[in-house]
Amino acid sequence: MAKKKILLNAFNMNCIGHINHGLWTHPRDTSTQYKTIEYWTELAKTLERGLFDGLFIADIVGVYDVYQNSIDVPLKESIQLPVNDPLLLVSAMAAVTQNLGFGLTANLTYEPPYLFARRMSTLDHLSRGRVGWNIVTGYLDSAAKAMGLTEQVEHDRRYDQADEYLEVLYKLWEGSWEDGAVLNDPQARVYAQPGKVHKVEHHGGFYQVEGYHLCEPSPQRTPVLFQAGSSDRGLLFAGRHAECVFISGQNKAATKVQVDKVRASAVEAGRNPDDIKVFMGLNVIVGATEALAWEKHAEYLSYASPEAGVAHFSASTAIDFAQYELDEPIQYVKSNAIQSATKNLQNNDWTRRKLLEQHALGGRYITLVGSPEQVADELESWISETGLDGFNLTRIVTPESYVDFIDLVVPELQKRGSYKTAYETGTLREKVFHGSARLPEQHTGSTYRQTASLTGNTL
Ligand SMILES: Cc1cc2nc3c(=O)[nH]c(=O)nc-3n(C[C@H](O)[C@H](O)[C@H](O)COP(=O)(O)O)c2cc1C
Repeated sequence: MAKKKILLNAFNMNCIGHINHGLWTHPRDTSTQYKTIEYWTELAKTLERGLFDGLFIADIVGVYDVYQNSIDVPLKESIQLPVNDPLLLVSAMAAVTQNLGFGLTANLTYEPPYLFARRMSTLDHLSRGRVGWNIVTGYLDSAAKAMGLTEQVEHDRRYDQADEYLEVLYKLWEGSWEDGAVLNDPQARVYAQPGKVHKVEHHGGFYQVEGYHLCEPSPQRTPVLFQAGSSDRGLLFAGRHAECVFISGQNKAATKVQVDKVRASAVEAGRNPDDIKVFMGLNVIVGATEALAWEKHAEYLSYASPEAGVAHFSASTAIDFAQYELDEPIQYVKSNAIQSATKNLQNNDWTRRKLLEQHALGGRYITLVGSPEQVADELESWISETGLDGFNLTRIVTPESYVDFIDLVVPELQKRGSYKTAYETGTLREKVFHGSARLPEQHTGSTYRQTASLTGNTL
């Protein structure tokens, strides 16, 4: 049987400090160039050279003001602040690539679905079907206040709102324009056919929408749907909507449990277990030899900021870790922020010292260090032992982390048959799922399609 091909996204963000904090001070790191188009177009070309499936761009609305109840550390260490808009990067990168996908994070809480539907359709057109959407609802009180609320919407209610948001989007993306609505016939003077473009009527608890989708159908209609929450309510949402789920695993045993839960959530929603591809965030430090890789690791550590990493984690959990003495036990509290992040604190055996040690590289993702063969062994073992489909590869020093992976690990994986040697044709969905450009039939979004209208000639 052919080996399972490892899926691979580069994990990035339109900012300086993303996951591994402090590394922006490394002399070879270029992340302070994030404001230039060339930084992104060069990155896109590099990733396409490495046959990456996608560039996954995280995003945040709001600032990380939980640690020390201030934004001093985030400003000094540039912890996802400043942060520019991810969607506006795509046209430039799509223009210099043919196959690379774009997983774009957008927070639905603060943007009406009608406008968001148009922005994503526009990018799906311009990229010829290469966009995905990482559906997030936010977890920061600082964002809520900046957007005119007094505090965050409650955790589970955010998902209720997201369910309805998706319903509106399916109506717009899948239901408003029938296949064949666009005739584009200059002789007949008909661009789009009346009768085949339908008004969406949505009257729900959160949204009222009466209107036509402004865009003609894009190659995928609905972009490939990513999601990252993994609380019980998050899993229910993933089962219904997600096509790709992003998790931050801590060890293989726990990751397998998590992957199994994601697949079970799909089955619960009437889908196939493999209808959801599961990606884990991962740091890789590779060298031509194991010794060189560890040398690089030591060098990186000398630039990392564990404190900045912990300040970021404070925002993820809504717990100000600065208020604890170094060895004082940290009390677990159920969070209104990211519940999957606080879960690790549930044993009440964490201290600030332990957190700082965990964030030695400025972040808390698992780190593989070794020769190309050792890294490939570990990647294959993660896939076979946990059921994961692929990885979101972080940058430690950028673009060095990606370039090292492409030059050293990709050829090794290809030699073993566990990584593609060429892109498949088609849209992002076709490449990742080897099926149609559109949502599969068992996905809830497909039920909003209009069957071809029987109105005959409506001209
Ligand atoms: C690995 C991972 C990556 C995430 N990336 C983002 C992000 O880029 N932007 C964002 O606003 N939220 C992000 N989140 C937060 C989730 O979208 C979600 O709001 C959060 O996990 C709360 O859901 P949960 O309690 O179900 O886990 C991420 C969460 C995880 C676990």
